[in-house]
Amino acid sequence: MLKNINPTKTPAWQALTAHFEQAQDLQLSELFANDSERFTKFSTEFGSDILLDYSKNLITEETLAKLFDLADQTELKAAIAELFSGEKINQTEDRAVLHAALRNRSNTPIMVDGQDVMPGVNAVLDKMKAFTARIVDGEWKGYTGKEITDVVNIGIGGSDLGPYMVAEALAAYKTRLNMHFVSNVDGTHIAETLKGLNPETTLFLIASKTFTTQETMTNAHSARDWFLATAQDSAHVAKHFAALSTNATSVAEFGIDTDNMFEFWDWVGGRYSLCSAIGLSISLAVGFDNFVELLEGAHAMDKHFAETPAEQNIPVILALIGIWYNNFHGAESEAILPYDQYMHRFAAYFQQGNMESNGKCVDRGGNPVDYQTGPIIWGEPGTNGQHAFYQLIHQGTKLIPCDFIAPAVSHNPISDHHPKLMANFFAQTEALAFGKSKEQVEAEFVAAGKSLDDVKDLVSFKVFEGNRPTNSILVKQVTPRVLGSLIAMYEHKIFAQGVIWNIFSFDQWGVELGKQLANQILPELTNSEAVVSHDSSTNGLINQFKSWAK
Ligand code: F6P
Repeated sequence: MLKNINPTKTPAWQALTAHFEQAQDLQLSELFANDSERFTKFSTEFGSDILLDYSKNLITEETLAKLFDLADQTELKAAIAELFSGEKINQTEDRAVLHAALRNRSNTPIMVDGQDVMPGVNAVLDKMKAFTARIVDGEWKGYTGKEITDVVNIGIGGSDLGPYMVAEALAAYKTRLNMHFVSNVDGTHIAETLKGLNPETTLFLIASKTFTTQETMTNAHSARDWFLATAQDSAHVAKHFAALSTNATSVAEFGIDTDNMFEFWDWVGGRYSLCSAIGLSISLAVGFDNFVELLEGAHAMDKHFAETPAEQNIPVILALIGIWYNNFHGAESEAILPYDQYMHRFAAYFQQGNMESNGKCVDRGGNPVDYQTGPIIWGEPGTNGQHAFYQLIHQGTKLIPCDFIAPAVSHNPISDHHPKLMANFFAQTEALAFGKSKEQVEAEFVAAGKSLDDVKDLVSFKVFEGNRPTNSILVKQVTPRVLGSLIAMYEHKIFAQGVIWNIFSFDQWGVELGKQLANQILPELTNSEAVVSHDSSTNGLINQFKSWAK
C-alpha cells in the first residue's frame, strides 16, 4: 500500500521553500556563463537513441539535491517497487497497476492475487500476432470473400488516444491497411469515417475496457447497423467485428463472437492500455513485429525506472523538475512540443495520461490537499505552434515549462525540410532561455541604420526577457522502440509525481458526475415537456435546444 505522506510536511519541502527564496532569481544566462560543464552535468542519454537535455531549467545542483531529498522523504523508491510488484496501489478501485506487465519482455513472473499474469499476457500477444498476420496478409476474408482493406477502431479516451497517437506516430511503418479511429459520440465522426468505406472490406475493432462506455457503444451499434444494412445477415458480423475488452459478457451480448475478443484485465488502466489488446489497431497499422518493438522500448524504460537510482533516473528527474515549477514557481501548465509531424497526437495523448491521473484534490488519506497537484498539459507539433501560441510562451506573463522533442533523422528527408525543422527546434529553446536584451535590440536597430532616438518607443516591445525553462528530448529517429521508451518515460514521470503529491493516480472519479447527469438529461431531451428540474441556466439551455431542435 502506498504511504500517506504529506509532501509539504517533509524537511525537504521546507528546505526547497527556503531555497526557492534565492533560486527564484536564477538566470539561465548566468548559470551557463558560470559553468561550461552545465550541459554535461544536466543531460543524460537513454540507450543510444535518446538524449535528454535538462540544462535549460531554472535549477542548480543544490535544487536537484533538495528535490531528490523530497523523492526520498516521500518514499518514491518503495512506491516504484510496489508498482512493479503487482501491489494493489490503485487503492480506491482495489486494483494493481501493471501496464509494465504488458511489455515485460523478460517474462519474469508478476503476481496478482497469487497468480502469475504473464501467461495470460503472452497468450493475448500470441492471439494478436496470429490475427494481425491473417488480416495483413489478406488470408482473413470478409463475408463476400474479399480481403480487409480498412480497419475502424471505435473507442474513446484511453481506448482511442493511445492507439491513434501511436498509429500516427509510426505511420512511416504502415502496413497495407487503412486505419481509421472513431471516438466522438457526435454522429459526424462515424458518418464521415464510413463515407467511402465498403462493408465487405471493413473490419471494426470495438475498443472498450468496460464495454459500457456510452460513446463507444453508440458508435459500435451505428457501425453494426451500417454493416448489416448491406450484409443483411448478423452471422456475417463475426468476420467484421472484433472486441478489445475486459468484459466478455457484454462483448457476447453485443453479438461479437468471443473468439474475436482480445482480452485484457482490470489491472490495466484505460489511459495506460496501449500495450494491451487495446493496441491491436497499432499491430494492424504497423505490423506485429513493430508492435513488439514498441513494447521492447517501453520495457527498457520500465527497467530503467525500476532499477536506476533517482539521481540518474530519467522519469524521476523529469517528475522532480515538473514539481519544482508546479509547486514552487507556481507554473500552471506544461507544454509538450514534438518537432515531428507524425507525433501530432502525442500531447493530446499525454493530456489524458497526465490530467486524468494527477488532476486530483484529495490526498491518499482522503483529505483535501492544500498544495498544487497535476498541471494542465497541452501542446501541438512544431513548427506549427511557433506561428500560433509561442508568442505567449516567449513574452507572456505566464511561466510555461516546455518539453521539446525532435528526431535527428527524418523518415521523409525531402530537400532541406529536416534541417529547417531542426534549426527551429534548436532556436526555440535557445531563444526561450537567453532571450534578447534591450542592448541587443538597440544594436540591431543601429546595424539596420536606424537612429536610436527614432526607435526608442519600440525597443521594449522587442525585448525577450528569456529565462524560460525547457527540456530538450532529442532522439535518433522516431522508431517503434524509441516511441515505446518515450511513452513509458512520460507514464513513469506521471506516476512519480502522483506518489510525491500523495494522490491516487490510477482512478478517475472526476469523470463520473458528468456521465451521470448526461444519463439523467438524455430522456428529458426526447420528450416534448418543458424542463424545470435543473437550475435556471441548465433549464434555459435545454428548453432553447428543444425548441430549436424539434
Ligand atoms: O471516462 C473516462 C474513461 O473511463 C477513461 O479513463 C477511459 O480511458 C475511457 O473512459 C474509455 O473507457 P472504456 O475503455 O471502458 O470504454
